[in-house]
Amino acid sequence: MLQQECLFRPQLLLYILVGFLLHAVVSAVIPLGSKLSVVDNNCWISNNGDFAFGFFNISDEPNQFSAGIRFNSKSIPNDQQKLVWIAGANVKVGNRSYFQLTSEGELVLFDSLKESTAWRSGAGNRAVVSAALHDNGNLVLIDREQNIIWQSFDTPSDTLLPGQSLSVYEILRATTKKPPSSSYSLYMNPSGQLQLRWDSHIVYWTSDNPSASNLTAYLTSGGALQLRDQSLNAVWSIFGEDHNDSVNYRFLRLEMDGNLRLYSWIETSQSWRSVWQAVENQCKVFATCGQRGVCVFTASGSTDCRCPFEVIESNQCLVRYEHECESGSNMQTYKNTYLYGVYPPDDTVVVSSWQQCQQLCLNDTQCTVATFSNNDRPECSIKKTKYVTGYADPSLSSTSFVKRCSGPFAVNPSLTKSPPPKLPLSLCVPCLMGAASGTFFIVAILQLGIVFIIFRRKNTTMRNVALAFASPNPNGLTVFSLSEIKSLTGDMRNQIGPNMFKGVLPNNQLVVVKDLNATIEERKFRSAVMKLGNIHHKNLVKLEGFCCEFDHRILVYEYGKNGSLDSYIDDSTRCKRLTWRKRVEICSSVAKAICYLHTGCREFVSHGNLKCGNVMLDENSVAKVCEYGFAVVEGEATYISAEKDAEDFGKLVLNLLTGCQDHKQLCEWAYTEWIEGRAVNVVDKRIDGFVNSEELERALRISFWCLQMDEHRRPSMEEIVRVLDGTLNVDPPPPPFVMHRPLQEDDSQENGSE
Ligand SMILES: *[C@@H]1O[C@H](CO)[C@@H](O)[C@H](O)[C@H]1NC(C)=O
Ligand SMILES: *[C@@H]1O[C@H](CO)[C@@H](O)[C@H](O)[C@H]1NC(C)=O
Ligand SMILES: *[C@@H]1O[C@H](CO)[C@@H](O)[C@H](O)[C@H]1NC(C)=O
Repeated sequence: MLQQECLFRPQLLLYILVGFLLHAVVSAVIPLGSKLSVVDNNCWISNNGDFAFGFFNISDEPNQFSAGIRFNSKSIPNDQQKLVWIAGANVKVGNRSYFQLTSEGELVLFDSLKESTAWRSGAGNRAVVSAALHDNGNLVLIDREQNIIWQSFDTPSDTLLPGQSLSVYEILRATTKKPPSSSYSLYMNPSGQLQLRWDSHIVYWTSDNPSASNLTAYLTSGGALQLRDQSLNAVWSIFGEDHNDSVNYRFLRLEMDGNLRLYSWIETSQSWRSVWQAVENQCKVFATCGQRGVCVFTASGSTDCRCPFEVIESNQCLVRYEHECESGSNMQTYKNTYLYGVYPPDDTVVVSSWQQCQQLCLNDTQCTVATFSNNDRPECSIKKTKYVTGYADPSLSSTSFVKRCSGPFAVNPSLTKSPPPKLPLSLCVPCLMGAASGTFFIVAILQLGIVFIIFRRKNTTMRNVALAFASPNPNGLTVFSLSEIKSLTGDMRNQIGPNMFKGVLPNNQLVVVKDLNATIEERKFRSAVMKLGNIHHKNLVKLEGFCCEFDHRILVYEYGKNGSLDSYIDDSTRCKRLTWRKRVEICSSVAKAICYLHTGCREFVSHGNLKCGNVMLDENSVAKVCEYGFAVVEGEATYISAEKDAEDFGKLVLNLLTGCQDHKQLCEWAYTEWIEGRAVNVVDKRIDGFVNSEELERALRISFWCLQMDEHRRPSMEEIVRVLDGTLNVDPPPPPFVMHRPLQEDDSQENGSE
């Protein structure tokens, strides 16, 4: 046994003081049943001591941990012991989590926050007898014959170590500070080339080897990155500056800034030195500035992002669409600047002169930016997006033209309003008196109004009582008898769903009656109903009451006068009322309602069955979600997850935007249209009038994130609400319906590696 801290976090001092609690296992063999936990702060260490596997806190949150492998050598100071592999890449878990080699030979990361498995190796029941952390930093599962059944080297996160390879279709993905995942990846394509890609379709660096099939990328211990054929001959290589020097530790990493770098450990300076990088000029990494403007070199030789455009919204450097300008637009010229659209990156290129290029953009209402360059031939590249980035350098011959509003103000009317008139200096006494008596009148009228409203309310309540129909419960719920339920539903005549009936209360209010599973224990049913009775949100239909008699467990909900959303989508006349604005509003209302269920109540409440059929429109066409809480009452709350609701929400958004209800092909089709820059095609053709392309982009992106097959990638409802509000940016999503890496034989979906 060897004592060593495995964990770096603010409470480090505490751990040093109670150092006897810390322990690391150094052994060639990790037996079945071995367990590491955040609380025990223990780890597995390779025989040579160079690598350690354990829990690490790498996020900004003090209570979020990842399980993974890092350098552990004594010659490398703690803060330089880089992480080289993370189980499930972006997976983060709570502070009571554990990592275990189960008795079935499966590696499992259990998350204490979600109380579920956050990652597994997928090697269970394959005759694994033990695990080991090899001297080269590879965590392996082995069977009785010492065959490797599974190894961490096959599922790299963002780093390759010497001796590790990257096969066809495999990727390294950069880590990211903001979830769910980075757009930058290193990809080994089937024609034998390594590619740095942004968002899986933009390639900004390629190993320029002659194409050959079945190649594998390999990092040598001498510090070369090679592409090897089947007989392990190198057909292409790059060498670090210190190639073949005696260097103890090296690694290759795809970094957060989208560049691929090879690092060597320098003993004398006690630091990692970059000895090679793929993209020499960081400004040429696609979208290196993202939405923070244009990349420029500074005097010190580093790069910086600057926003030369006029419009900056919530830290975004955006350009304007013509229709956002009140009084026309003109073109601003930026010399030595190359601009391109980030998403959708749908640049149109035409042969033209410098002057024509500027005119082409000015005459096209959709055009936001144009870049003229004259390398092989004079070309004009036209962009039709607000999300524009690029780079500027005195050595560049390109010139860019950016559309901007001619008037002093953009379209935002609150900015263009004239300031309120100042009070005149001489006060006019009669005016003041008039104003005072006016105020009195208003107060009086308000008071009358209040009295009137109270009176009317009393009246309706009295009417209810007069009908002697049902008795209200302490929290406002009405307790119905079975005969009352029968009477208000006309003996369950009007069925609108499984065990669901439409009914009318004596005050003519429409209600939905849901007859639940009769075996629910009365006590449990009543306590669940009390919980639901405390849920109040303007976008959730209200629980009006319940019935708990004999073997009936019945819930009575209010019913939207205008029926459910799917009846609008399916009906070509009614759907006219679903304007673009209305649809955006509905998405936002539904998101808020589900967010409230997830986080606004005392306990997490899942919906479990969110769909257009379960969204009602009230008399003001405000969306109200219904059929929530059945799982609570039926005691299944824990089986239905937040991720399921997010997925259902993604489907709902697509259904609503496209006006189609068929899901499976719908998602693939919509994604293809979007990624190829034809997002507008996705929109329901029956919508008359204006469609806001920025809102469309946000709604599509967030729905594709919600529909990710890997549920760890799905956003929380809180994030969804903020994206739809426009207060949170959302990265372009990867294709939702494929995993990022081909599935291993019995790999489950929970293998969230990317
Ligand atoms: C564990 O994390 C929770 C928040 O997730 C926090 O409230 C608690 O204080 C943490 N416990 C310790 C021992 O750090
Ligand atoms: C690539 O290798 C696999 C197995 O190693 C082989 O089945 C396949 O035919 C090879 N493909 C080509 C194009 O050489
Ligand atoms: C590095 O060393 C290897 C083997 O020792 C040798 O084959 C290779 O030529 C050397 N490369 C350079 C650039 O010196």
